[in-house]
Amino acid sequence: MSEPMRPSGLDTNGEDFLTAVGPQTPGGQYLRRYWHPFMLASELQDLPVALRLMGEDLVVFRDRAGRIGLLHKHCLHRGTSLEFGIPADKGIQCCYHGWKFDIDGTILETPAEPPSSKIKHNFKQGAYPVRELHGLLFAYLGPPESMPELPVLDTFAKDEGNQPVPFRFHMPCNWLQVVENACDPIHNVFLHAIVSSQFSDAFKVLPALDFVDTPMGFLSMATRLVNGKVFVRASDIIMPNIGQFTGSNNKASDDSFRIGCGRTRWVTPIDDVNCHYIGYVHFNPKYTPYGQIQPDDLGVDKAGLIGQTDERPYKERQREPGDYDAVASQGQVANRRTEHLGTTDRGVVMFRRLLAKAIQANLQGETPALPQPMLWDGKTRTYAHEYVLSVTPASQGASHDALQSFGRAAALAVIAAQALSADDETIEARAKQQVLQLLKEVVS
Ligand code: FES
Ligand SMILES: [Fe+2]
Repeated sequence: MSEPMRPSGLDTNGEDFLTAVGPQTPGGQYLRRYWHPFMLASELQDLPVALRLMGEDLVVFRDRAGRIGLLHKHCLHRGTSLEFGIPADKGIQCCYHGWKFDIDGTILETPAEPPSSKIKHNFKQGAYPVRELHGLLFAYLGPPESMPELPVLDTFAKDEGNQPVPFRFHMPCNWLQVVENACDPIHNVFLHAIVSSQFSDAFKVLPALDFVDTPMGFLSMATRLVNGKVFVRASDIIMPNIGQFTGSNNKASDDSFRIGCGRTRWVTPIDDVNCHYIGYVHFNPKYTPYGQIQPDDLGVDKAGLIGQTDERPYKERQREPGDYDAVASQGQVANRRTEHLGTTDRGVVMFRRLLAKAIQANLQGETPALPQPMLWDGKTRTYAHEYVLSVTPASQGASHDALQSFGRAAALAVIAAQALSADDETIEARAKQQVLQLLKEVVS
């Protein structure tokens, strides 16, 4: 019989219920119901690449026809690694005795076996499907009969000329604490604005926080009064491991209104104690992350932001720590049993509860929530937004509660506007009009 859930959201089956990613674990089985990006397409050239994904040792390769295969690393004959295999016109040939495998694991040839051999009909090399999208390779490691569509988020083509530029870097810790970092907007004040100067000074102002439900997760929101303006930054938390974020350099000096994001990222587990931080920065005329970075600043181990990796000298990291330092130093798997959670950890708790519920539901055979494309344009709506709007002088002393109510009501207006079957400009104009109306009503 299951015991009640702890306040932190940890299931009493043990902490690894939420964090473990192997194929036999409840969490690993849940995560396997989704597509996950794992490398840049540009990393895969003529030679196969050995890698780990959710605790499994695999090899990815392009055959000479350009098709991509993702196979179990060890050849099913006698275990030689297929990273030493030879890509063929069709599939890959093991270097040791020449057995050849198609990208779906079918044994195409066992050249030294007699023609009567049945081996190639009786066995298959383990194989997973791969898709390429905007320069990232995605894998699906779940049950073949339940394979979902690769999600196409509206932010991938938000504005005309939008260019999603891929990047990835490695985090030497469990995936969940990296996701939790995004559910915790108060850290932007301290880690990124007061302790370090990675975000603009506007982020030094303590915000009202809120966490507003969306179809696949929630908005992690910070609402501030700064420079006589209301400044809202709302990040998308999309189950199980997608985050979408607006910029870090908004000084809240000029009015603006924007539904969309500068970054879409996944946290893809490599194993229980390593993960990829991987995704896109969206470059477009309207929202090239405030002109801060260029496409060349992004790539493998290049995140275009200070403090995301361990590349800086240790003392510099101590003086100006970033997300890498804060999150990796929680431990390989953060010990959630020794935490002392406060009210600002509401988003972290919310995510753990959602995750525990989803893992449990998957164990019971329910189909996990999947991104739902709009029927009229085939894209999945997402909700990250950011705006700066002037308020009346009288509103500049608005209480924390008034700010919080406003941020929530305005987020609901953005979510409702995103359901309209209209183009992005019309949706944004409608949302802005409603947010301005709420600003008059709630913060006045
Ligand atoms: S080990 Fe691969 S063909 Fe023998
Ligand atoms: Fe951060």
